[in-house]
Amino acid sequence: AGVAAAAPFAWRQLRGGTRTAASTASVAAPAASPAQRFIEPLRIPGREGLMAELPLSRAGTLTAQASRFQVLAGADTEVWHYAAEHEGRRLANPLLRARRGEAIDLQLHNRLTEVTTVHWHGLALDEANDGSGLHPLPAGAHQRIRYTVRDRAGLYWYHAHPHHRTGRQLQMGLAGLLMVEDEEELALRERLGLAWGERDLPLMLADKQVDAGNAITYKDCADDWIGNRMLVNWTPEPYLDVVPGLYRFRIANVCNARMLRPAFVHDGQPLPMQLLGVDGGLLAQPWPMDDLFLAPAQRVDVLVDFGGIAAGEHVMLRSLDYAAMENEDESGAFAGDPIADHPGAVPMGGALDIMQLRVQAGDGVPLHRAFDALPARLAELPALPDTAGWPVRDLRLRMDSEGRWFINDWNFNDTGHEPVFSVRRGSREIWELRNAMTSMPHPIHLHGFPFRVLSRAISPPDVRGRAVAEGGRGPQDMGYCDTVVVWPGEVVRIAIDFSQPFTGTQRYMLHCHNLEHEDMGMMLTFAVTD
Ligand code: C2O
Ligand code: CU
Repeated sequence: AGVAAAAPFAWRQLRGGTRTAASTASVAAPAASPAQRFIEPLRIPGREGLMAELPLSRAGTLTAQASRFQVLAGADTEVWHYAAEHEGRRLANPLLRARRGEAIDLQLHNRLTEVTTVHWHGLALDEANDGSGLHPLPAGAHQRIRYTVRDRAGLYWYHAHPHHRTGRQLQMGLAGLLMVEDEEELALRERLGLAWGERDLPLMLADKQVDAGNAITYKDCADDWIGNRMLVNWTPEPYLDVVPGLYRFRIANVCNARMLRPAFVHDGQPLPMQLLGVDGGLLAQPWPMDDLFLAPAQRVDVLVDFGGIAAGEHVMLRSLDYAAMENEDESGAFAGDPIADHPGAVPMGGALDIMQLRVQAGDGVPLHRAFDALPARLAELPALPDTAGWPVRDLRLRMDSEGRWFINDWNFNDTGHEPVFSVRRGSREIWELRNAMTSMPHPIHLHGFPFRVLSRAISPPDVRGRAVAEGGRGPQDMGYCDTVVVWPGEVVRIAIDFSQPFTGTQRYMLHCHNLEHEDMGMMLTFAVTD
């Protein structure tokens, strides 16, 4: 119940969503939502509390700690967070902003009762400042973090990353957004004329498993941890009043394990969106989309037009249903669905209502007609490299008969931080990610080096017995990525340039960003050497 009949299925749909005019998406609503949803206004980045905004250069000290916040109706909720103070105000998991080229110098204090770190997800940093589990910070200790932001403008994020504790610490709340800006991004913003914080908004999506007393719960070494409440900017199933015009949303999936398929649904139809950017910033050109796939850790930058919708009508930001597992049955349920442990939760591929948008009268508001404010060319994006002659490294995703996850023959619980291979600094490689032996998608994340998706192909045999599509990338594959979804049966090739302004041996991680897979060892360490 609560899951619409499976949409007519095509592999194309699994390649970063559907394109306008080719959509076969099912936009059916989930079963009646409990009445207490969509009664709280979306939390907008402000000056204080959760999601307050702060220039990264002013952060000074981030303190990992636990405090109680009013998140849900009723009792307070204990949230583990990065606390900052600025001009006498207390901020929690602030939305940090940085300019490309800026030098950062801050302290991380650990006031939790266990080790933690702060990993700058998507930034190209040296090992010491990357914040992976290679350098855990013990309880009570502090450490200095210094780096230069060299990355393209875009929405990045930061989160805890101590091995075996990452799933728990993120579920408890240790994550925030990091917006990097540069000239190109500011010029586009100027041109679109959508005020940041009003019509240009971050949406940080995180599902939480919450008990009857409003406590966030977590069980170590469980499978995919899926929530029964969906928080957007730490507001449970919020609403947002919108004018009937253009909006820009920077959407981040900060869920532990839940893959989302976001669409803005009005009157049973997905509103057309324009995809402007992905993990590593702007694409060369906008792409029309009806819906997209957003795996844990991925981000998208989209424009949606509410123009032409009458005042008083509603639009739903909905995660559409999709086949989450290769062995899924027609109702969308699948063998081994961990939903039994999660009362009230919607299963992984089930339709899920996230946020309601209430269209208001637009008198006096500058509206844009359709997408005509959009330039044909968004950003200078280097062309895909000519990879002829680049060495290919095979990476097979798999599970053994005991249910342990592996990349090739490596499980992190065996190999630990010992690099399992090394790469020469300045060299370039193709990594071939093959998901021929597992029945679920894996969002694979590489530290230190933004990459380009070269191709997607179905490795024979097509496990679902459906027609094999030709290789090809989706719109979400057209920019710089730091996390890429490899669907069951798929082979994804990525191109990585290991140039970097550091010397000596630097160790990095490659892992599944389904945090339960990661904590159970679907992760490896590799070294970059002179
Ligand atoms: Cu967002 Cu290695 O993690
Ligand atoms: Cu995985």
